[in-house]
Amino acid sequence: MKSRVLVTGGAGFIGSHTCDVLLEKGYRVAILDNLSEPVHDGSGRWPKYLDRRITKIKGDVASKNDWMKALGGVSFVIHLAAYQDLVPNFSRFFETNAVGTANLFELIVEKKLPIKKVVVASSQFVYGEGKYECRKHGTVFPQGREEKDLQRGKWEPVCPTCGGGISRLDLTEDGHDPRNQYSISKYTQELIGLRLGKLYNIPTVAMRYSIVQGSRQSYRNCYSGVLRLFVTRMKLGIAPVIFEDGGQLRDYVSVKDVARANVMMLENRAQYETFNVGGGMAISVLEFANAVQKGIGTKTGYRITGEYRVGDTRHSVSDISKIKKLGWRPKGNIEESIREYCAWIKDIKIDKAKLIAADRKMRKVGMVRKAKG
Ligand SMILES: NC(=O)c1ccc[n+]([C@@H]2O[C@H](COP(=O)([O-])OP(=O)(O)OC[C@H]3O[C@@H](n4cnc5c(N)ncnc54)[C@H](O)[C@@H]3O)[C@@H](O)[C@H]2O)c1
Repeated sequence: MKSRVLVTGGAGFIGSHTCDVLLEKGYRVAILDNLSEPVHDGSGRWPKYLDRRITKIKGDVASKNDWMKALGGVSFVIHLAAYQDLVPNFSRFFETNAVGTANLFELIVEKKLPIKKVVVASSQFVYGEGKYECRKHGTVFPQGREEKDLQRGKWEPVCPTCGGGISRLDLTEDGHDPRNQYSISKYTQELIGLRLGKLYNIPTVAMRYSIVQGSRQSYRNCYSGVLRLFVTRMKLGIAPVIFEDGGQLRDYVSVKDVARANVMMLENRAQYETFNVGGGMAISVLEFANAVQKGIGTKTGYRITGEYRVGDTRHSVSDISKIKKLGWRPKGNIEESIREYCAWIKDIKIDKAKLIAADRKMRKVGMVRKAKG
């Protein structure tokens, strides 16, 4: 009989697609998920898209007791449950993401659990502002963009040494410069998994996903996720705002590709390593917005208002050559992800007042600011 895999956060976006791939490959699957809002509807019911064959355990990764309810008979863990938001409740990021991960490793050691491998979900966000080339100073790592530059509508980062222009380099796994509560907690998760894993002989890999796209991404979070922000607004006839000038580059990756990458990691030899999981192609936010508009078939357009979101990086494009050497490559494309997302949310009633309130709130609390220059 095939091994049992525990997927934490398995009721969510990436988790549910990962469960589908695991079932296709004949694994037995269990989920540990607390069905938290705003991802879920607050009813405590499991989403209908989850396969009946999955064993579902409702619980919180911040609780060792809940982990214990889920770990019986498990050989592999794909740890995706996480707190993700833009709000400044810093401690919750660490309670869920860091302590939640530490609980798993503590229990494996304490109870001598026969876990063969752990896959920890990390994020491209751990790279911070990223990696650039300066003609005078070689490879440089800008320390985030200055508020005074953003206020003047100067979007491109500059060389931290000479202040001159720099060119973007793809992000490679040797880098890290987490700069907000989410990315610091994700990088901490990586360290817990890779360092404590190695110390206690628990094979672990960390996966740095780029922005993931596709069906089942919760439409209830009104603050983040470029596809859901654009689609939910365009569907209601609201022209979404594009931050900065829309020239930000990203390498969107399909959720199905991410799910395949997670499952591939279980039984290969990779251990105590980090892998980028990206789309392999740089696309600007403006190109993405055009593709969404075409996919939905609306004519709302979008607005470029000179606003920017605090903490956003200018460009984030991952180098995926390392994971490609293991036999994985992205098969999806943005048109397909947009189609799948639109089909999925087709019959869902979006609360217009809630979206407008969320947009206002982001401005009110200063998460979105307007350039003066
Ligand atoms: N979606 C992306 O673009 C993206 C990009 C980079 C990294 N990631 C990482 O991938 C992972 C999965 O993300 P996703 O987009 O599928 O998110 P999601 O919000 O759709 O799913 C997360 C799931 O975790 C559950 N959960 C949250 N807190 C929990 C807790 N304390 N205990 C148990 N379950 C809990 C939620 O109920 C939800 O079902 C996360 O670790 C996230 O940081 C996602």
